[in-house]
Parts: sequence; structure tokens; C-alpha cells
Amino acid sequence: MKILTILGARPQFIKSAVVSSELKKIGLCEEIIVHTGQHYDDNMSNIFFEQLSLQSPKYNLGVGSGTHGYQTGMMMIRLEEVILEEKPTAIIVYGDTNSTLAGSLVAAKLQIKSIHVEAGLRSWNRSMPEEINRVVSDHLADILFSPTETSVTNLINEGISKTKIELVGDVMYDVFLRQESLSKNLNNALEKHNLKRGDYILATLHRAENTDNLDRLKAIITALDMLGQKFQVIVPLHPRTLTKLKANLLVENYRHVSIIEPVGYLEMYELEANSRLICTDSGGVQKEAYFHRVPCVTYRNETEWIELVSSGWNYLVEPTDAESIYRTFLKALETQTASLPTINYGGGKASEEIAKKIVSYKFG
Ligand code: UD1
Ligand code: UDP
Repeated sequence: MKILTILGARPQFIKSAVVSSELKKIGLCEEIIVHTGQHYDDNMSNIFFEQLSLQSPKYNLGVGSGTHGYQTGMMMIRLEEVILEEKPTAIIVYGDTNSTLAGSLVAAKLQIKSIHVEAGLRSWNRSMPEEINRVVSDHLADILFSPTETSVTNLINEGISKTKIELVGDVMYDVFLRQESLSKNLNNALEKHNLKRGDYILATLHRAENTDNLDRLKAIITALDMLGQKFQVIVPLHPRTLTKLKANLLVENYRHVSIIEPVGYLEMYELEANSRLICTDSGGVQKEAYFHRVPCVTYRNETEWIELVSSGWNYLVEPTDAESIYRTFLKALETQTASLPTINYGGGKASEEIAKKIVSYKFG
């Protein structure tokens, strides 16, 4: 059996680490990695292959950045060639990026089976590119691995056959649990950035709906700057956001936050683990805040990970006004985490179950 894994963006490298390692352990299939080239900076790509000991891609399609049509189209053209050449039994795609969409579409057209990991998440907001990508990938997939009961219900409500859906838990939780064994040497992130344990706030910001809307971008970064006047705020910034801040001459306006380059998974783990509050619009970082039992504020209108909000670990705030975002930060800082319920993201065995199901599946 030959499995072709299609990766392209930072969170996909991270998610694939555990599934690939479980596939290797079982040893019944050959896995080929294809990197679409969607993320290409060293600190957005190579660092994850090194830190998480990922198998090197056999193909790097080198697609890079561009409009959605250009990026997805180029990926499809180049992926088609690779799939025709390799003739895999099935492909695996992760999450909801343009690399996910391109992989699912090409496989469907070539009648190759497709496996979608992190299936069934919904924001119910079709203006998000990610929502389009995940809906299409889910509907084209032959096996759908879902992280939560809510995601399974979403798929069933959309008419996807129960026989295709497997509730396995969240692979990001597996990565989180295995961090120590995966790490060769922990970075000294706190020392490097002059941070005191439990006494700083970690923020990330990269969603298109926030970075590409100047009012939202200003509101979020102003609120972080207000927070920075009371606490140390560190922001490993996605290149997309830095480009937008520079284009709008905004970088200099925010003197009370420390903007740093994106960091590797291990450094991020350490920064998250020791923070007092996490502020983000990232899907993955929202969950990792909970894994570390750190309260979180998500500046978005909605989230796919609704359990985080209903359980009180995550506060959603519509990022239209700096004052209201700032007030939400202050409220979240008061969270009494000891009284909050735990959430079921699986028992850390999602990747093992996925690998077992794949190798025993009858691909007809
Ligand atoms: C993509 C995903 C998003 C995911 C995120 C993870 C889509 C539609 N979006 O968003 O769902 O949350 O990845 O991080 O697939 N850039 C660089 N260097 C890089 C990569 C990007 O400078 O290595 C800059 C470029 O200016 C580029 C911009 O970031 O235009 C956006 O990159 P892109 O991959 O299109 O989308 P992301 O915002 O990263
Ligand atoms: N991450 C990282 N370095 C950073 C920012 C994030 O390693 O500077 C990790 C983070 O710990 C999580 C994943 O990247 O595991 C989340 O990816 P991202 O926020 O880019 O995308 P999303 O999850 O929103 O799709």
C-alpha cells in the first residue's frame, strides 16, 4: 500500500508528525510526502521538519504565495503529475488550507481515495476560505477522521454516511502529549525573550478576516498594545500579518508589545505552557491553550472549537473595537481555571487509531 501525504502549511506539518510516525511503526505501507510549498520560510516550514523529525518530502511543488485561484490551481496542476507518477492507494490531507483543497480535488478527479484528518469542523461562515476548503474536502473524502463529537454531528447533518466517519480525537493533542519524547533539546524560550514564568501574555494573529481588514487589524493590535502597558506581551508574528502591518505603516505604533519572528513548535510549546493568558485567532493555538490549561481569548466572530467557549476556557470577542477586546482580555485574566470542566479531545491515541484504520481499510 502506498499513501501520499499532502502537506503545505505550518499546522499540517505539526499534525502529520504523529500520524506518519504511527504509520511507520505499523510498517505496512509506504508513505510519500508531498510539500506543496504553500509555506516556505525556514521558520514556517523547515523548522517543523527538523524539530518533529518529519520524513523529508519526496516532492516539493514550490507553489508559494498567491491568490487563492493561483495557489490552488498551481498546486492542482503539479499534484496531478505527482499522483499520476506515483499511483498511490490513497492520499491524506489535513485541516482546511488551500493545500488540503487542492489535494482533495485532484484525488477525486483521478479517482484516488482520499482521507481527511480533522474532518467535520465548521464555523458556518462561508466568507472564510478555510470553511470552503473543509466543506469540499469532507464531501470528497472516503475516510473522515473527526476530532470531536460535534464534528461528527456536523458531518452526519450534511448527509455524509456514518460508515465513512471515524471519531478518533484530536491529533494535535497527541502531538502535545508527545512533545517531550519528540523534542531533542528544549529551547530556552523564556530566557531568550526575557520572560518570567506565568507573568506574560502570548499572542498570535494571522487569520485573513483580521489581517486583511484594516479596522480589525488596528483594533486587535491596539488592544494588545493596551495590554502591553500593564503586562509583557510577546507576539510571534505570522509573515502575512507583518507584511500587512508594514504596508500600512503600523509597526511603529505598537511599542508595548514584543513582536518576534514565528518560532518552532518546541519554542511555541514552552511559550504557551508558561504564559498567563493566550490571545489568538489560530485554530490550533486555541486548543493548545486549553491543553496547557491557560485561559484564552479568541478575536473572531465564531470558532469551530465551540467546546472551548462553552466550557469557559476560551472567550470569543468580535474584533471590531479595541476597548471591547481589551476588556475581554482583562476578564479572561480573572478566569478561575480550577473550577472549569475538562474537554474530551481523545486520549492521545488519535494518530494510532488513524494509522490502524488506514492500513486495515479495504481500498477497492
Ligand atoms: C494559511 C491557511 C490558514 C492557516 C494558516 C496557518 C489557506 C487559505 N489559509 O494561511 O487556514 O491557518 O495557513 O498558518 O490556506 N508568507 C510568507 N512566508 C511563508 C508563508 C506565507 O511570507 O512561508 C506570507 C506571504 O505574504 C503570503 C501570506 O503570508 O501571501 C499568506 O500565506 P498563505 O499560505 O496564503 O496563507 P496563510 O495566511 O499562511
Ligand atoms: N505555532 C508555532 N510557531 C508559531 C505560531 C504557531 O509553532 O510561531 C504552532 C502552534 O503551536 C500550533 C500551530 O502552529 O501547533 C498552529 O498553526 P497556525 O496558528 O499557523 O494555524 P491554524 O491552527 O490557525 O490553522
